[in-house]
Amino acid sequence: MGPVLLLLLVTAVRLTAGQGVDRPTANLSSIWTNNASFFFDKVIYTAGTGPDFRPIVLRVRHIVLRSPETSKGPSLGAGFICRSPSSDEADDTACHFAVFMLINSSDIIWSSPQVVWSANPNHPIKENATLEFTSDGNLILHDADGSLVWSSGTEGRSVAGMELTENGNLVLFDRMKATVWQSFDHPTNVSVPGQSLLEGMRLTAHTSGTNWTTQYQMYMAVLSYGLYAYVESTPPQLYFSRWAAEKKVTFTNGSLGSITLPAANHTQFLRFESDGHLRLYEWSANVREEWVMVSDVMRMYLDDCSFPTVCGDYGVCTGRKCICPSPSDSGTRYFEPMDGKKANQNQGCLPNTPVSCQEMQHHQLLTLPDVSYFDTSNIIRDARSRDDCMQACLNNCSCKAVIFRYGPNDSYGKCSWLTDVFTLQQINPDTVQYNSSAYIKVQLSPSPTNKRMILGATFACIGIIIMATIAVTLYVQRRRKKLLAQKCATFECQWNQDIDGDFDFDQLPGMPIRFSYEKMRECTEDFSKKLGEGGFGSVFQGKLDGETVAVKRLESAMQEKSHRLLVYEYMPRGSLDRWIYYRHNNAPLDWGTRYRIILDIAKGLCYLHEECRRKIAHLDIKPQNILLDEKYNAKLADFGLSKLIDRDQSRVMTVMRGTPGYLAPEWLTSRITEKVDIYSFGVVIMEIVSGRTCIDHSEHAERIQLINLLREKAQNNNLQDMIDKRSPDMVSNLEEVIQMMKLAMWCLQSDSSRRPSMSTVVKVLEGAMTVETCAYYNFFNADSVIPVQDNASIHSATPGDYIFFNGHPVMPIEHNVSAYSAPPQASILSGPR
Ligand SMILES: *[C@@H]1O[C@H](CO)[C@@H](O)[C@H](O)[C@H]1NC(C)=O
Ligand SMILES: *[C@@H]1O[C@H](CO)[C@@H](O)[C@H](O)[C@H]1NC(C)=O
Ligand SMILES: *[C@@H]1O[C@H](CO)[C@@H](O)[C@H](O)[C@H]1NC(C)=O
Ligand SMILES: *[C@@H]1O[C@H](CO)[C@@H](O)[C@H](O)[C@H]1NC(C)=O
Ligand SMILES: *[C@@H]1O[C@H](CO)[C@@H](O)[C@H](O)[C@H]1NC(C)=O
Ligand SMILES: *[C@@H]1O[C@H](CO)[C@@H](O)[C@H](O)[C@H]1NC(C)=O
Ligand SMILES: *[C@@H]1O[C@H](CO)[C@@H](O)[C@H](O)[C@H]1NC(C)=O
Ligand SMILES: *[C@@H]1O[C@H](CO)[C@@H](O)[C@H](O)[C@H]1NC(C)=O
Ligand SMILES: *[C@@H]1O[C@H](CO)[C@@H](O)[C@H](O)[C@H]1NC(C)=O
Ligand SMILES: *[C@@H]1O[C@H](CO)[C@@H](O)[C@H](O)[C@H]1NC(C)=O
Ligand SMILES: *[C@@H]1O[C@H](CO)[C@@H](O)[C@H](O)[C@H]1NC(C)=O
Repeated sequence: MGPVLLLLLVTAVRLTAGQGVDRPTANLSSIWTNNASFFFDKVIYTAGTGPDFRPIVLRVRHIVLRSPETSKGPSLGAGFICRSPSSDEADDTACHFAVFMLINSSDIIWSSPQVVWSANPNHPIKENATLEFTSDGNLILHDADGSLVWSSGTEGRSVAGMELTENGNLVLFDRMKATVWQSFDHPTNVSVPGQSLLEGMRLTAHTSGTNWTTQYQMYMAVLSYGLYAYVESTPPQLYFSRWAAEKKVTFTNGSLGSITLPAANHTQFLRFESDGHLRLYEWSANVREEWVMVSDVMRMYLDDCSFPTVCGDYGVCTGRKCICPSPSDSGTRYFEPMDGKKANQNQGCLPNTPVSCQEMQHHQLLTLPDVSYFDTSNIIRDARSRDDCMQACLNNCSCKAVIFRYGPNDSYGKCSWLTDVFTLQQINPDTVQYNSSAYIKVQLSPSPTNKRMILGATFACIGIIIMATIAVTLYVQRRRKKLLAQKCATFECQWNQDIDGDFDFDQLPGMPIRFSYEKMRECTEDFSKKLGEGGFGSVFQGKLDGETVAVKRLESAMQEKSHRLLVYEYMPRGSLDRWIYYRHNNAPLDWGTRYRIILDIAKGLCYLHEECRRKIAHLDIKPQNILLDEKYNAKLADFGLSKLIDRDQSRVMTVMRGTPGYLAPEWLTSRITEKVDIYSFGVVIMEIVSGRTCIDHSEHAERIQLINLLREKAQNNNLQDMIDKRSPDMVSNLEEVIQMMKLAMWCLQSDSSRRPSMSTVVKVLEGAMTVETCAYYNFFNADSVIPVQDNASIHSATPGDYIFFNGHPVMPIEHNVSAYSAPPQASILSGPR
């Protein structure tokens, strides 16, 4: 935050004469000069020690005259606002043409004018600058020396006047009172209640560049169905994303799109700040009369180390402090703290010798083990092994570092490269469950031409000036806790455990609420309105505290000892199968809705797999078990088959569970993990995209199995044949639909370890990552995962053998599976419902 703003925040402005000068509009052919004796209806607004504000239009909130409800809001002005010159530098008056809020806290004092919008915020203007509202409807800001600073660009567009609206929107309107231009369409770094950020709009913040640190730009943008925050680089690096229900994000009392904010007691505003945080401020009228921060919005979802500039360029965030990349094995120090070894080391680190593209033969990579980065989406696809990854970076001077993420074997991993290195994160592989190393490019021999020529981010290479934002960093994998999930309510987490019988209520966050059987009987009118039947019992409609709920009564033999009921949210649109298959005659869903449903399912599964205290495999993912609410928000249901898996170890299942058509190949061996859900999820994606069931006997023999068809189409490069032809917008979004199918194919890999994790899937769907191409389309022959009656081959199998079904090799046997004793029991397989 610049000194300007600090001043604005702490000072009060005195209205020295008159009151009630409400005039929210201005006419064409006017010119206003920014001078100290600014007149507005013969009222002089001077500031005493605080900033001057010189309103051109003013909307005063008269507290006494209006109802208490409306008087809660601030007064608003648009005009010049100037930081008063500090005593020692008399000349540095910096003004802006801005929209600002004023809080009326007592009779004559309007406190702390808060700028919510300004014209060309990076270009302050001086005394005697002018704002002209020309006769042809253009609003033009000239600085004192006559240079053009900003213009609305509305000449010739029939503008009739200017108005400041009640929520702080500066509007140029035409004779029909229609909006021609509005400040809400050009947000700066602040958002006010009632303001919507539409697709493509962004809030922008600049870090204050000092002598040695880069001046970065960070921005928070609304893109299709989401709110995303980036730090500028080529390409921009993503550090925050949050899915949105619409292609816009609206800030209201209590929410920002899908993010819940503290309800407002008084005037609020949101500001995107130079450290990349989005903070919610509120006027505190009672305690201290000032703006106080009431919520650090992204911090609810990200840990401190996940912000790109928390430790500056090349700094390593360890959670507690920032350190510089440690010396190499030979003891050479390549980086020094930016601020000269002082205690405060969050300015970043400076390479002792800048990397020069002219001397690539002297480039080397400094290894930082157990270090990761917030954005690993720029993947070098053909560099799978650690060595290839490092070599790829050394071969290209634009590459300033690579992050190599891998599992147990470093000859197969994911290599992502960085052109700018911001804050890196130290990780603990045991916690995040992957290995990651960072390799930072350093220059070995001091280049003769370079003697600390770094100024800001600029440094000279021989001959050319290369602008490079120096920023490489090590990073700890952020656990995007709440960010991912929230789609799957905690009681669902609990439900599954309840059925398992070994459920421990107290271990779970958000303990479920218990109701008495009597209350349930009452609320369902004695189980009179039956909604349907599921795998383990019937479901009834009920009313609980005015809300419609669904109550499931478990009816299997094992539950006879007592009444066991489960209460859920009522999902009025029922299960997904009713909406995606063409044989149900509902209007086909548009692509946007299908996309959101897939994302919802992914988030729900991600929650089960990665967010619950113990890993939960659902084991029966299929459209019948996905429910839709009024707005087509999808939730996972029916945990009848699910199993807890202790973290870090997979669970051996003794019986096959699930539904034919959705079963992953590893059911044929003994090693079952949550990855079976990812396979089923892949099947469901394909059903949603193609609008048909995975096994459709009404089709020609070769088309019965959707997944076999997919493999064939993928091999022949005819993926577009798979698309549900009933939705024209799927054809117009072909690129995105094809990407979705590629994601499905990734999930359908027969080798379960090659399937992505659900958090990766979510990242892909949110646009933070791209799909890894599965060149081999090595997915399983779906014919084989049919309940196996003859499992003799399983019993005799030993490691190294392959299991064959229907004549196809299915899976290499990884373990001796003779322990696989119980044959798959058809009774555990749930049928299509
Ligand atoms: C704008 O023009 C209208 C009509 O010409 C006039 O009534 C009004 O007072 C003017 N407003 C200002 C702020 O000058
Ligand atoms: C200040 O600006 C007003 C118009 O906005 C103008 O009438 C006045 O002459 C200016 N005063 C000085 C000292 O320039
Ligand atoms: C400011 O609020 C006080 C009450 O707190 C009220 O008496 C006064 O008229 C208000 N002033 C303006 C300019 O609205
Ligand atoms: C603004 O203009 C007035 C009149 O032209 C002049 O007297 C004054 O010195 C100017 N102020 C500045 C800061 O240049
Ligand atoms: C920045 O550079 C200027 C001169 O180049 C110097 O006077 C000043 O002390 C430097 N500031 C810092 C923080 O290093
Ligand atoms: C915000 O909403 C809450 C209720 O959700 C209400 O009590 C409060 O008065 C509202 N605040 C404002 C400033 O309107
Ligand atoms: C808003 O008011 C409620 C109730 O008076 C209080 O608990 C809460 O702390 C207030 N919030 C802020 C940010 O002042
Ligand atoms: C927000 O923008 C204003 C100009 O509109 C600028 O003065 C201020 O420094 C910015 N604040 C932050 C935190 O970037
Ligand atoms: C280095 O990588 C950039 C970005 O991918 C690419 O545009 C450029 O062509 C590469 N340069 C070389 C020499 O491969
Ligand atoms: C990390 O790599 C080591 C071998 O270098 C391996 O033993 C370990 O399992 C790997 N950890 C994870 C989480 O993959
Ligand atoms: C790692 O994978 C490579 C190739 O896939 C294989 O040759 C090598 O044996 C594996 N190493 C270990 C330790 O499993």
